[in-house]
Order: sequence, then C-alpha cells, then structure tokens
Amino acid sequence: MDSFLIKGSVPLHGEVAISGAKNAVLPIMAAALLTAEPCVIRRVPNLSDVKFMGQILTWLGAQVRFEGDSVRIQARKIKGAGDYDLIRKMRGSICVMGPLLGRLKKAAVSLPGGCVIGARPINLHLKGFAALGAKVVIENGYVHASAKRLVGAAMFLGGRAGPTVLGTANVMMAATLAEGVTVIESAACEPEVVDLASFLNAMGAQISGAGSPTVTITGVKELHGAEHEVIPDRIEAATYAIAAAATNGEVTLRGARADHLRAVLDKLKDAGVGIERSSAGITVRRNGRLKPVDITTLPYSGFPTDVQAQMMALMTLTPGISIITERIFESRFMHVSELTRLGADIEIEGPSAIVKGGKPLSGAPVMASDLRASAALVIAGLAARGTTQVNRVYHIDRGYENIDGKLRQLGARIERIEES
Ligand code: EPU
Repeated sequence: MDSFLIKGSVPLHGEVAISGAKNAVLPIMAAALLTAEPCVIRRVPNLSDVKFMGQILTWLGAQVRFEGDSVRIQARKIKGAGDYDLIRKMRGSICVMGPLLGRLKKAAVSLPGGCVIGARPINLHLKGFAALGAKVVIENGYVHASAKRLVGAAMFLGGRAGPTVLGTANVMMAATLAEGVTVIESAACEPEVVDLASFLNAMGAQISGAGSPTVTITGVKELHGAEHEVIPDRIEAATYAIAAAATNGEVTLRGARADHLRAVLDKLKDAGVGIERSSAGITVRRNGRLKPVDITTLPYSGFPTDVQAQMMALMTLTPGISIITERIFESRFMHVSELTRLGADIEIEGPSAIVKGGKPLSGAPVMASDLRASAALVIAGLAARGTTQVNRVYHIDRGYENIDGKLRQLGARIERIEES
C-alpha cells in the first residue's frame, strides 16, 4: 500500500486545475446504460473509483473506452445483475440499479455494505423503485428489483438525515423510462444531481426542477446517445482552498465554480481567509491570523459533509474553540484520533467535535481511514512541523486526481512511497 511522506510548514503557492467531479461522473457513467447508443463524457477525472465504475459497466456488457480525460460508453446489450466483488468495492456503484431497472425493467445488485463513515442504508432508493411499481426483494445479500412496467408516481424521498444524493439520482434515472410523470419531493439539490439531470436531458429525458427539492420527470419511450462535460469537483476545490489557508499560502483554483462552493467560501471568509473570484477561478489567500468558526454539515446548499474533515484540520491550527457538528453521517470522525496524533486537541461530544485549536502540529505517522479523512491528514501534514507519513493513501486515490503531483506543483514537499 502506497503512503505519502510530507515535509510540512511550506506555504502553497500557485495555480491548481480542478478536475471533474467524482460524485457527478459516477452516476453519469451509470446513466449511459439507459441507451444502446454511444455516450461521450468529458472532463472525467483519473481516479480509482472511476476505473471501478468502468469495470462494472464492462461487466454488465457495455463497451467502455477511456481516452485522455474522456470516456466513451456504449451499452448495446446489457445484463441486469452486478458482480458482488465489484459493487462491494465502491458504494457509488449502487447507482447502476436505477438505469438497469429503467432499461431492462429488472436489476439485481449486491447490497453495498456500510463503511467507516456510517451505516449507508439504501432504503430510500428502494422506496423510490417500489413507488414506480417495482417489486423489490432482498435475498442472499442481493437486492432484486423487477417490474412488468414502470409507472410514474409522486413520492417523498426525505430520510432521517434529509434527502439522499444517490437515491435521488437512482430514482431519477429509472423514472426517465417510466410511463407518465414522476415527482420526487425532498429530492437532493446537490450540483451533482443537477449535472446528472442535464446529461439525462441531453439524452432525451424530460426532467425539470433538478437543483430544487421537487424534481419532475416525464417518462419517455427511449433515450439516445449524448455528449457531456462533467462539472468541476467542488470538494476537490474546497480541499485545495483549505490547504492554501492552512499553510499560509495563496492558491488559485482554476476552473472552480464559486456558485457550488458558497457555504465553504463563506466559512473560510468568516475564518479570516481572503477569497477572490476571477474569470480563471477562485484565489484563496491567508490574511494573517485565523479565527475559529463553528460548522454544521447539512445537505446542499449547507456546509458539505465531504469537507468537514478538511475544515477540522484547519481549525486545529486556529487559536480558539470551534465546534464542528456532523449531521449527515453518524460516525464520520475517524480523522479525529489521527489528527490528535499530530498534536491536535479535539474532543468528541455526540455528533460534535470540539476543537481547541492553535497548538502547533508536529509530524507523525498517521493512517488514512476514508477518502476525506485522508485529505484532512494531508492538509494537517502540510501545515505541521517536521515529517508526516500518511499511510494507506489508496483511499485518497479514489477521489483526488494526482493529489501529490498537484501539491508538488504548488510547492509542497510531498513524496509518494510506492510499496513494491
Ligand atoms: N440515507 C438513508 N437511506 C438511504 C440513503 C441515504 O437513510 O436510502 C441517509 C444516509 O445514511 C445519510 C444521508 O441519508 O445519513 C445522506 O446520504 P446520501 O444518500 O445522500 O449519500 P450518498 O448518496 O450515498 C453521496 C456521496 C458522498 C457524500 C454524500 C452526502 C457519491 C458517490 N457519494 O453519498 O460522498 O458524502 O452523498 O453528500 O456521490 C465522498 O465523496 O467522500 C462521499 C462519501
């Protein structure tokens, strides 16, 4: 397993190009299963999760060809069942279920397990499929959904923690080929859902309201091939913004969309970080001393759970107390004990972490536990004195394209130690 060796306390300076959004491209690739015609997707990030999705689509019978930062997918003929091992490797692969159900009227995929950030149920996805008329059965670790015909329906998809991103995507995809009109209430409003809806509309779907809590889908008989450019990754952009602030640097996030990052930029401003928008992107500059801010993660347009760990790393460097509350996933604090190994003072109280910041961090060996926790450890390592070794960086390769190369371009002293 590869690791990163980081020599910290070097301010980041320069420009970084933001890649396509992981959480947009995964359901968009799955959506290509809805047509027999070829689809071309551009600004596809080179990530292990994207490769996995390519393997799953290939296994289902599609032709998948990556070329530079594009992928061409043609699903002339597909089968309706997903291989256990592949689905298990990546939770995002559950979003093949909606397209399979829409196109074949049957789908069987292995139930994705929980993961370190929480239980990760899919009851709301299944509720949506059932509302469209599918019979849903869980048997031997697989979810089977089948229907003679799918019929549009009105449904409420809000859950314990609010809307579901991939659940909204899944039901939206199945409903594009249902008979009649589907209305999803309490739909997820994330930009990745909007991006998927634009791709589906380019394929001939009739979806309106994406980006709001009410999405209306008028079913069509069939979809055709389309081309699409994926939105820039707002979580990657936020991660580099926070890394710039944490290292006392100045970084321009080329191609980042400020309209997708309002909650994060607003909190960074409150923390005393300078933010400037230009046609090239967003420039983030540390303006002297940081101020503590309290954060609560919420569904979009609130503060994203996927940036909670990185922001916590920043708050450990900030004199004063900040309270960080996680409202989306129940156990997304795996980074706390590792940040503590670097010298941070953090206590967990129920869904909140109380960060007593301002003590200098010092390098140590730490273990990455999930994608965003790993990003937080890299940020802390970049700011810490001395050398930090971040182990198990395969987590970070799932969701950050060439993070070590991009950070080196910004002046960071980070090296990948490849395990032979
Ligand atoms: N939930 C249910 N029932 C369901 C589905 C979700 O109760 O059927 C709950 C979850 O347990 C959680 C909340 O609803 O408490 C939100 O989960 P959601 O379904 O929105 O998460 P997701 O769609 O599985 C996507 C991203 C995650 C991101 C979340 C929240 C992808 C591939 N994954 O997951 O990204 O944290 O939305 O924004 O799009 C990451 O990139 O590191 C990552 C984990």
